[in-house]
Amino acid sequence: MINLFQPQVGAEELAAIAETFDDKWLGHGPRTRAFEAAFAEHIDVPAEHVVFINSGTSGLFLALESLDLRDGDEVVLPSLSFVAAANAVLSCGARPVFCDVDPRTLNPTVEDIERSLTPRTRAVIVLHYGGSPGDIVRIADRCRELGVTLVEDAACSVASRVDGRAVGSFGDIAMWSFDAMKVLVTGDGGMIYVKDRERAVRTRRLAYHGLAQPSGFGHAKVSSRWWELDIPEPGRRVIGNDLTAAIGSVQLRRLPEFVHRRREICALYDRELDEVSGLLLPPALPDGHESTHYFYWVQTDPGIRDELAGDLYQDGIYTTFRYAPLHKVPAFGSQSLRLPHSDWAAERTLCLPLHPGLSDGDVRTVAAAVRKSLENRRATPIPEEERVESRDGRTAQVDL
Ligand SMILES: Cc1ncc(COP(=O)(O)O)c(C=O)c1O
Repeated sequence: MINLFQPQVGAEELAAIAETFDDKWLGHGPRTRAFEAAFAEHIDVPAEHVVFINSGTSGLFLALESLDLRDGDEVVLPSLSFVAAANAVLSCGARPVFCDVDPRTLNPTVEDIERSLTPRTRAVIVLHYGGSPGDIVRIADRCRELGVTLVEDAACSVASRVDGRAVGSFGDIAMWSFDAMKVLVTGDGGMIYVKDRERAVRTRRLAYHGLAQPSGFGHAKVSSRWWELDIPEPGRRVIGNDLTAAIGSVQLRRLPEFVHRRREICALYDRELDEVSGLLLPPALPDGHESTHYFYWVQTDPGIRDELAGDLYQDGIYTTFRYAPLHKVPAFGSQSLRLPHSDWAAERTLCLPLHPGLSDGDVRTVAAAVRKSLENRRATPIPEEERVESRDGRTAQVDL
């Protein structure tokens, strides 16, 4: 089977784990702090403002919790978001308000967000689809103007930048995911960045039982009783540990190599699939934008998208669609909402295998299987009169 995602781990990561075993210190400790410092340098923010946690999901929950939302408060987020974002909003008693996206980039534009704002909007959460930074500069400017907190779900964009500035550093809070399918992996893990100093201190507390300072001899307030607790408010336990941090530090060093290969694979898909009738490829990145290249997605006739996925599966190629629209999920209570671009994209988009372990031969195999399926299924070419222009200037058909 040609996998959709596959972690790149090997001898260097094993050596780092072995060192941790030798030291007999697996929990939160010096390797965690070193990974936080290296990550902070990578995104060019102060080290005290990042916390290594156990997942990107925990980052979303911590972020929302730190906003002290109340019943009736609203948080705007694209319908094509990871489910944890909506769950995190609901867990704080707030209401998720789903906005539309650009049909080709699958990222929300500032206008998409603007249409969903109300006087009750307290925060906006955006993700960077497949690692593409999207409209983040304009969105961050607008949120700042309005005094609305911007949370960047940078789970898929660990190496994404706009004019050299790291995605995740544009908003007020951001989180990254290092789960087993991501570009930088630690098995499970994540990083949260909090711009405001006080909120950063509080977030670190909330991530570890609410403790104002770690327990233990070196940290005790009353040195003769280092087991006493100082808890200004209750918290949870969602911190990372030295074992996974050791893997993360190695992965961070190797990140440029991973992204370089991903970029090569995307370019090869572009060449192999260009001009295939009935198939739209990911839009070109705007000038100054750098992507992590987490997804390579194609869009096709909605009548055959599912068959295409089935044909590829039969040929030993795994595909998926991320992210199934949340306004269609009954639990989130927005089924009557009309988000035409999200619906359009959700019916037509398929993510193809993308990871550095793919050989050029694998990519050609996938491309050939896509071409064969589309020919057999007779994909309908997109008629000229039904095309609309998306922000990248390339066209797509949208049935509005
Ligand atoms: C956009 C996005 N946000 C958040 C997450 C959650 O990350 P984790 O799996 O580390 O909890 C994911 C995971 O797939 C994701 O894709």
